[in-house]
Amino acid sequence: MGWKEEWERAARDPEGFWMEQAQAIDWEVAPTQALCDQGGPVQEWFCDAQVNGCWNAVDRHVAAGHGERLALIHDSPVTGSVTRITYAELQDRVARLAGAMAARGVGVGDRVIIYMPMVPEAVEAMLACARIGAIHSVVFGGFAAHELAVRIDDARPKAVLAGSCGIEPSRVVAYKPLLDDALAQAEHAPDFCLILQREQARAEMGPRDVDWHEAVAAAEPVDCIPVRGDHPAYILYTSGTTGAPKGVVRPTAGHLVALDWTMANIYDAKPGEVFWAASDVGWVVGHSYICYAPLIHGCTSVVFEGKPVGTPDASTFWRVIADHDVVSFFTAPTAFRAVRREDPEAKQMAGHDLSKLRNIFLAGERADPDTVEWIGKVTGKPVIDHWWQTETGFPIAANPVSLERLPIKIGSPSVPMPGWNVRVLDEGGQELPPGTLGAIVVKLPLPPGTFPTLWNAPERFRTSYLDAFPGYYATGDAGMLDEDGYLWIMARTDDVINVAGHRLSTGAMEEVLATHPDVAECAVIGAADPLKGQVPMGFLCLTKGVDRPEAEVVAECVALVRDQIGPVAAFKAAMVVDRLPKTRSGKILRATMAKIADGETWKMPATIDDPVVLDEIGVALGRLGYPR
Ligand code: COA
Ligand code: AMP
Repeated sequence: MGWKEEWERAARDPEGFWMEQAQAIDWEVAPTQALCDQGGPVQEWFCDAQVNGCWNAVDRHVAAGHGERLALIHDSPVTGSVTRITYAELQDRVARLAGAMAARGVGVGDRVIIYMPMVPEAVEAMLACARIGAIHSVVFGGFAAHELAVRIDDARPKAVLAGSCGIEPSRVVAYKPLLDDALAQAEHAPDFCLILQREQARAEMGPRDVDWHEAVAAAEPVDCIPVRGDHPAYILYTSGTTGAPKGVVRPTAGHLVALDWTMANIYDAKPGEVFWAASDVGWVVGHSYICYAPLIHGCTSVVFEGKPVGTPDASTFWRVIADHDVVSFFTAPTAFRAVRREDPEAKQMAGHDLSKLRNIFLAGERADPDTVEWIGKVTGKPVIDHWWQTETGFPIAANPVSLERLPIKIGSPSVPMPGWNVRVLDEGGQELPPGTLGAIVVKLPLPPGTFPTLWNAPERFRTSYLDAFPGYYATGDAGMLDEDGYLWIMARTDDVINVAGHRLSTGAMEEVLATHPDVAECAVIGAADPLKGQVPMGFLCLTKGVDRPEAEVVAECVALVRDQIGPVAAFKAAMVVDRLPKTRSGKILRATMAKIADGETWKMPATIDDPVVLDEIGVALGRLGYPR
């Protein structure tokens, strides 16, 4: 069967379609039905099953006789090491780590925060939580102490698992002082912190800190504990419109079923083959495609601790693909833009045999046609753009190359996957004809593996995703479907921006800037950037009577965002302006400001309060060299 038949089958009979896919998973108690109504605003999946995520990702492969197969390859150019871990070794390491946590009181439903660099222990930490039914919440290492504190207070973890440091090309980032700072800021206190000491920056240990290696060496291995199908596997915080991150809740069973389906139908990786997602465990790509999906499917997953350039150069991607016989490679377009900028003719590919590589997958941000064409030209491989979100956990739209290789339309992430009934609506909720731009929504129910709520915020779940278009999930993206059913993703409909494949909230940055004593009002927009896709840009209106050099205030604001949100925000450009452009009802015209910064054509909004302010913004941007 091809894509269309499968899509129609899933739409006509979601129950039958997903029960069939569920056969790929090992159940302690098999589900009696796929869809279930738990009384929440959306339907859930496989609720009455009993299952364990770690068993499906690790133990079952050992039980099936594949214990000697490689589960993880940690390739770390920043430390000059490559470590290979078989499924049998992984089982032992994870069972002991789970034992170390269980012995300290972590059990089913307890939360565990993981704040770690790209080392195998980060994946093991996630799996160890799954093994004992604890709910993990990984926080990306590039976030500052304050962001970590916000997540600690929301998730209220029993334990924090952290590395002593991460290694960036230009510096060693000591994580432990950031963790200590976060715990000092947070109201909630975990019972203990398990600290993985790394030689590059050993951490000073405090009274609640436990040495990872010692604890694991002394621990008794524990078995997998089956949990209900709708038990949360993890919480992953992502950026929304305000400074408070949204805790996306991922249920266990649906996530196992859906991810396995994607490996077999989209990512073209067979059990025993090597799959590499060059992302970070702190993002959804890392959850789904560094940790869970490749392992559930019995593949070998590459855990890469490095960057596309600078570790040591632009040959790194090619080297890793060749050294480990990678068949499917997944990264964000920005990573390839970085490679191309350094090595436009891909001369550094020489000597690296890419013959095993079958497909290159791109997601996380818009894949600009220029970059897609360049990758295709220099590698000779199919370049598959696909579109999804933290909320969805796996692709909404893709080219399902192992099910049916559809024609590629460069600039489009291709077509909706089975389970995804995608529509484009106008503001009034009316469906728009092909080729017309509107809000991209998904008719409920969402497929398994998505999210039934936000952690501690069921009301926000409704208002953010369900209220705008009753009966539909609002993706927050705008775009269109064409005559052939291909999707075109054009822009976000909210104040989320995408910086180097990292999803960030301009609202969160504005909240931080507003705390500066000299800032009366501010706005942050995403301006187009040739490397990172977008970069944040701040507009500051100073408090009356402030009599200091503007450059000083700007520098303090830049430092403030780095200190409060983290280096990942890449907030480096800000300017002082007299006024912000607003509608008569007081809404700041951020989208129009972004168009001016990018040199795009723009229309004077009919509701603008004072058109002259937009001229002033243009002049201020001009002083910084925008549009570029
Ligand atoms: N821990 C601590 N700091 C981190 C970090 C981490 N895990 N990850 C990033 N940072 C810091 C960086 O050191 C940098 O700090 P600086 O301002 O002092 O230089 C800042 O955060 C921004 O990092 P990054 O976004 O990586 O930008 P970069 O300029 O260093 O590199 C790219 C640019 C394009 C090479 C890089 O962004 C990249 O590889 N992107 C791929 C994106 C990706 O994997 N996205 C996931 C979705 S698929
Ligand atoms: P995240 O939740 O961090 O994965 O970010 C999700 C958002 O990134 C989406 O809502 C889109 O705005 C954007 N995005 C992800 N993949 C693509 C893609 N292939 N094309 C265009 N935008 C994308």
